[in-house]
Amino acid sequence: MPATVIIGGQWGDEGKGRVVDFLSRNCSVIARYSAGSNAGHTIVNDLGRFGLHLVPAGIFNPNTTCIVGNGVVINPKSLLDELAMLNERGVDTSRVRVSDRAHIVMPWHLAIDELDEKMRGEHAIGTTGTGTGPAFTDKTGRLGVRVTDLVQPESLDQLLSFILPYKNRIITELYGGDPLDGDEIRAEYQEYGRQLRPYVADTSRLVQDAHDRGEQILLEGAQGTLLDLDNGTYPYVTSSVPSSMAAGACLGVGLGPTAVDRVVGVYKAYQTRVGDGPFPTELFGEEAAALRDHGIEQGTGEYGTTTGRPRRCGWFDGVLARHTAKLNGVNSIALTRLDVLAQFDAVHVCVAYELNGKRIDALPASLHEANAVRPVYEELPGWKQEVSDVRHFPDLPPEARAFVRRIEDLVDAPVDMISVGPAREQAIVTRDIFGGTL
Ligand code: GDP
Ligand code: IMO
Ligand code: MG
Repeated sequence: MPATVIIGGQWGDEGKGRVVDFLSRNCSVIARYSAGSNAGHTIVNDLGRFGLHLVPAGIFNPNTTCIVGNGVVINPKSLLDELAMLNERGVDTSRVRVSDRAHIVMPWHLAIDELDEKMRGEHAIGTTGTGTGPAFTDKTGRLGVRVTDLVQPESLDQLLSFILPYKNRIITELYGGDPLDGDEIRAEYQEYGRQLRPYVADTSRLVQDAHDRGEQILLEGAQGTLLDLDNGTYPYVTSSVPSSMAAGACLGVGLGPTAVDRVVGVYKAYQTRVGDGPFPTELFGEEAAALRDHGIEQGTGEYGTTTGRPRRCGWFDGVLARHTAKLNGVNSIALTRLDVLAQFDAVHVCVAYELNGKRIDALPASLHEANAVRPVYEELPGWKQEVSDVRHFPDLPPEARAFVRRIEDLVDAPVDMISVGPAREQAIVTRDIFGGTL
């Protein structure tokens, strides 16, 4: 059975977690393949509301093996806290498996994330401060500590004796920060290793074996394609390689590319971004506040799951959506938060840009030009009607259906699922993604 990849089609926070939770009932394996605890995936189901950063969103399905793949960087404290939180709330975590090849976020990564943002001054990226970027930098720079090292005290000792003095020089001499203490780190991380040992496995074998047995596998992306190191709005991107792309999914779990034939692009019905960087359709003032604060009392306003930062909001960008769909080979769309648009008399979608008086149909690579483009909008009539209780496509107001159809045209892929509220059942399935029914 071919594997399915779930990717974010915008700048993250599209609702990937809720889509994975919804689809997981049909899957025997769900694997995270990239990023670290910079990701924040919110799930609202019959067990409550959960914010997950490292554990795959399939954890609520009792039949699913949940894998944290080799492409993820792991803050062991975050992971252990998340597992403890889930256990306390009655969720069985015995099916979690952590790749022995995944890299570890060490204290110097957290320190350098903060110090480096300060040093960049006005050129700061607006990172999540989770040490994820520096951990990926060290992975590429061949200075990483992996899960396999964490669970073997001698290996951890050896690496610490080499890497810590190296990093302390950078922290003190380059950034002017305080040095880190080796004994404290050794004791703390040995303990994390001891606690994580039962979960550690050669996870690529687990995924490959499940694939060979013909089981359904879901690869859960983090972030969004516009934050991808290669294809995003560089340098205002994240650091995974390649962070949020379907093409990176196989690499991040240890499967061959022929295993995947379905790529579900998750898109919000409008656009959001946390952190800095170009955002052609960004709104300010009342319309931005209306998008951001919709559902704020229920905790579903546009505020970061990981950092609590307010998200920048704007209209749906059809130019970027088509671009990310093509980059990933998206052949199925999950459109989220349609309910949020119900408040507007008219909704807008961006269909092109203008740059220096010329109409263009792609975001330029140059940061200067990407900041200078002006969106060309198409205005569509609003529906001014709550849709949170709708469960069948024909029951949506005609204007909402027309909006969905326009998105399909712009992105050039079918919308197979629409969500109209944060809870698992608040979804409309328009085409069976893989036998997924409510
Ligand atoms: P992810 O990072 O892609 O998993 O997305 P996040 O969980 O960071 O952000 C999505 C937010 O939207 C969360 O607060 C979800 O609970 C919420 N959400 C998801 N789908 C819907 C929806 O259809 N309607 C509304 N109102 N909220 C939704
Ligand atoms: P999920 O999986 C939204 C953004 C940060 C910042 C940039 C770099 O929840 O969609 P980093 O800490 O990764 O070095 O920060 O990337 N970013 C996200 N934005 N959702 C995410 O993940 C993000 N992960 C990173 O805000 O702009
Ligand atoms: Mg998120």
